[in-house]
Amino acid sequence: MAATSILFLVLSLLLVTGGDAHNITEILAADPDLSQFNDYLTRTRLADEINTRQTITVLALNNAAMSSLTAGHPLSVIKNLLSLHVLLDYFDPTKLHSITNGTVLSTTLYQTTGTASGNVGFVNITDLKGGAVGFGSGAPGSKLDSRYTKAVKQIPYNISVIEISAPIIAPALLTAPAPSASDLNITALLERAGCKTFASLIASSGVLKFYQAQMDKGLTIFAPNDEAFKAKGVPDLSKLSNAELVSLLQFHAISTYAPTGTLKTTKDPLPTLAGTGKYSLTASSAGDSVTLHTGVDSSRVASTVLDATPVAIFTVDNVLLPQELFGTSPTPAPAPSPESATPAPAPAPKAKSPAPAKSPASSPVLSPPSPPAESPAGGPAADAPTKTADDSSKNAAGGRAPAMVILAIAVSVASGVISLHRQSGSGESQREIVRWTGI
Ligand SMILES: *[C@@H]1O[C@H](CO)[C@@H](O)[C@H](O)[C@H]1NC(C)=O
Ligand SMILES: *[C@@H]1O[C@H](CO)[C@@H](O)[C@H](O)[C@H]1NC(C)=O
Ligand SMILES: *[C@@H]1O[C@H](CO)[C@@H](O)[C@H](O)[C@H]1NC(C)=O
Ligand SMILES: *[C@@H]1O[C@H](CO)[C@@H](O)[C@H](O)[C@H]1NC(C)=O
Ligand SMILES: *[C@@H]1O[C@H](CO)[C@@H](O)[C@H](O)[C@H]1NC(C)=O
Repeated sequence: MAATSILFLVLSLLLVTGGDAHNITEILAADPDLSQFNDYLTRTRLADEINTRQTITVLALNNAAMSSLTAGHPLSVIKNLLSLHVLLDYFDPTKLHSITNGTVLSTTLYQTTGTASGNVGFVNITDLKGGAVGFGSGAPGSKLDSRYTKAVKQIPYNISVIEISAPIIAPALLTAPAPSASDLNITALLERAGCKTFASLIASSGVLKFYQAQMDKGLTIFAPNDEAFKAKGVPDLSKLSNAELVSLLQFHAISTYAPTGTLKTTKDPLPTLAGTGKYSLTASSAGDSVTLHTGVDSSRVASTVLDATPVAIFTVDNVLLPQELFGTSPTPAPAPSPESATPAPAPAPKAKSPAPAKSPASSPVLSPPSPPAESPAGGPAADAPTKTADDSSKNAAGGRAPAMVILAIAVSVASGVISLHRQSGSGESQREIVRWTGI
C-alpha cells in the first residue's frame, strides 16, 4: 500500500513539475520591439493562460503593429484580439513552409472562450508563392493581410513565438461592449446565472457599490449559487450583524482581474474586498478545475458568468466563509434578536472597512450601532445549528485506522494523476480541431 502511494506521488510530482515549462513574459522581454505586445499580454492576463498551456504558438506584433491594434479599443476588446494571436498548435518556421496543401485553419485561444461563432476563432495560415507565409482571420472572405516576418523563440514542441507583420482582425470582435459600471448590470448577470440570493444580498446590503467602485481598476466576483445558501453548514445570515454580513459579501470578490488562467497560476493569497484587503483567499487547481480555499471551507469555481477585462464573474458551489469571522467558532455569536420585522433601510456602508481590523483570533466582530438587520430575502432556515464543511470532513476522517488515511492519500494522488492525463487528452482533441483543406 505504502509503496504504491509513493509510486503515485513520484509519478504525480514528475507530471506536475513538467507543467509550467515556459514563461512568455521572459521570452518576449529579450526583444525590446515586442515590449508593447508583452505589456498587453500581462495586462490582459493572457500571459498566465499561455503559461498554463503546452503546445502553443504565439504570433507576436512589434510596437508599431501593436499601436494599430490597441488604438481606440477598450482592454476587453484588445484581449479578444490578442487571444486570436495565440494558436493552440506548434508552428515553427519549418512547419509553416510544409503545411499540407499549403493552407490550414488553426484553433486559437479565442475559440476556447466559447463566444466565437462560425470560423471567427480560427486563423488561416497559407503558404504563399515565393516563400512568404500569410495569416488572416479564419472567417470566410477574410484577407491574408499579415505576413511571417521572423522567428523569435522556439522550444520544440512546447512553445513557438514568431513575429508577424500586422494584427489579425476578425471584425466580429470589435463590437463587444466595454465593462463599466454604467454598461454592465452585475445583479442582472448574477440573477440570470442562478445567483438570485447573492444578487439580492449585495444590492440590499450596499456591497454592490463597493463592487461597482472597483470595476475600472480590476474586479473578480465569486458568486455562490442559490443552492449554496441552502446548504447545511451555512451560517444563519439573519443572525449576523450588518458589519459581518457586509464583510462576508465583500469576501466574495477580489480587487484584481483574475480570469481562470490567472487563478491557476497564482500561488499567493488573493486579497478580497473584506477587511480592507486583509481577508484573503487562496486558489489551487487540478487539471482544468480551480478550487478556492478560505481556511475554514473551500469551493470549486463552477462556471464563468463574465470574462471582460478588467472584470470577471464566476459562480462558486459554496458560500466562502472568511477565517476572520468563522475561524475560531463555527457559530458566530448571535446578534441581538430582531424585535420587529420593520425593514431596516439598506445600510450603505460608510467606511471602506466596516469590520474593524482585529486579531484573527477575536470573534465576534464589533457591529456598528444600527437597527437589527432584516433577514435577507431568500435566506436559509434559521434553526439548523451551523457546522462548517471543514468540521464534517474532520469528523469523517477522525478516529479511523491509519490504513484508511494512507488509502485516502493514495486515491487522491491517483485521481490527481488521472485528471492530469485527462488534461493532456483534451489538449490532443483541441489539436484535432485544426482542419486541413485543399486549394
Ligand atoms: C516541454 O514540455 C514538457 C512537458 O511540460 C517538458 O517535460 C519538457 O521539458 C519541455 N521541453 C523543453 C525543451 O522545455
Ligand atoms: C516570468 O518572467 C517574468 C520576467 O522575468 C517574472 O517577473 C515572472 O515572475 C515570471 N513568471 C513566472 C510564473 O515564473
Ligand atoms: C485561407 O484563405 C485563403 C484566401 O482567402 C483561401 O483561399 C483558403 O481556402 C483559406 N484556407 C482555409 C483552410 O480556409
Ligand atoms: C439591473 O438589473 C436589475 C434586475 O436584475 C434591475 O432591477 C435594475 O434596475 C438594473 N439596474 C440598472 C442600472 O439598469
Ligand atoms: C490535399 O489535397 C488533396 C487533393 O485536393 C486532397 O485529396 C487531400 O485530402 C488534401 N489533404 C488535406 C490534409 O486536406
